[in-house]
Amino acid sequence: MNKRILVSGGAGFIGSHVATELIQAGYDVVVADNMSNCDMTCFQGVQKITGREDIPFVKIDFCDGDSVNKLFSDFQIDAVIHFAAFKAVGESVMEPVKYYKNNLCSFLNVLDAAKTHGGCNVLFSSSATVYGDPDKLPVTEESPRQSAASPYGNTKQICEDILEDTVKATRRFGKSVCPGISNNGPIKGIALRYFNPIGAHPSALIGELPRGVPNNLVPFITQTAIGKRECLSIFGDDYPTPDGTCQRDYIDINDLAKAHVAAVARMLEEKMKEDYEIFNIGTGRPLSVLELVKTFEKVNNLKLNYKFAPRREGDIPAIWADPTLANKELGWKAGRSIEETLESAWAWERHLAEINK
Ligand code: UFG
Repeated sequence: MNKRILVSGGAGFIGSHVATELIQAGYDVVVADNMSNCDMTCFQGVQKITGREDIPFVKIDFCDGDSVNKLFSDFQIDAVIHFAAFKAVGESVMEPVKYYKNNLCSFLNVLDAAKTHGGCNVLFSSSATVYGDPDKLPVTEESPRQSAASPYGNTKQICEDILEDTVKATRRFGKSVCPGISNNGPIKGIALRYFNPIGAHPSALIGELPRGVPNNLVPFITQTAIGKRECLSIFGDDYPTPDGTCQRDYIDINDLAKAHVAAVARMLEEKMKEDYEIFNIGTGRPLSVLELVKTFEKVNNLKLNYKFAPRREGDIPAIWADPTLANKELGWKAGRSIEETLESAWAWERHLAEINK
């Protein structure tokens, strides 16, 4: 029987790509989402790409512990990948209670259910935001975490800690604290620290669906290119970087999704070296905002309306990953070129324009 993976937040941008890759790798998947920040477009896209009309979909609020328990009773789950969380940095500064409540409660409920129902493995979607503004680049998993610049970032740090503590406790105290775990040992945990996920599936059937004005760079670019936004503001041209604009590590969403498949296999095939592991998921290649904009123009053969604007509060000058550990231990490497990725982002925006006509 295939192993079954629960993808919480599975109808969203990252979740839908991960569900697709898992199914294509031969896993059974349960997609669960409260639909607070998406519609059914991406889930339907996953069905089309995989040719699977029968993927179980559960609409669920992960902050409701009873519903989460029921979900784990209804399905035998071998591992859960937890995406269900709010993710807008600026909004989290305005509404910290909303962010702490949602992002922490949902994760605690998942861990509780994982403990009760056979001790399934847990993969947490973390972020490079935990490194803050690093002293040394690129960042490795050993680079120190810095105090979070936003409540959103803080929820990522806290959830990493909660997962690590839970994994340790189940190893140490076993069935006495966690009667549901199987004889195979403790809950295992992996945190994947994403850099900047961008792009869309090559089919253009799934991609990012920002509500309202996008905060992130690439959806803002594609919406400007299609005429939904007038002009892209490049925030800051006087950073201490080669061209004065910020540098990031932009990781193709399909590559990112494949890293999850590799991490799940590592957990389920008992290949982990520690009960709790962390991996940077990035390319190792810094790219400036201006370089990204110019590449987007070139590969898609268009001119983008952009201007330089003041720095955005909270932005750091530069961050990129050292992905060596993930390359070695997960046998995973980012493979798609930035050109392919930016073509796919533009194809997705055009697909959206087509279906919303
Ligand atoms: N940018 C612009 N104009 C825009 C939008 C973004 O110039 O309209 C610039 C930003 O200033 C930054 C770069 O593009 O230099 C990337 O910005 P994004 O908002 O796309 O991504 P961030 O690096 O700010 O955000 C990422 C993740 C978040 C995470 C955050 C932590 O998307 O989930 O890092 O810093 F919380």
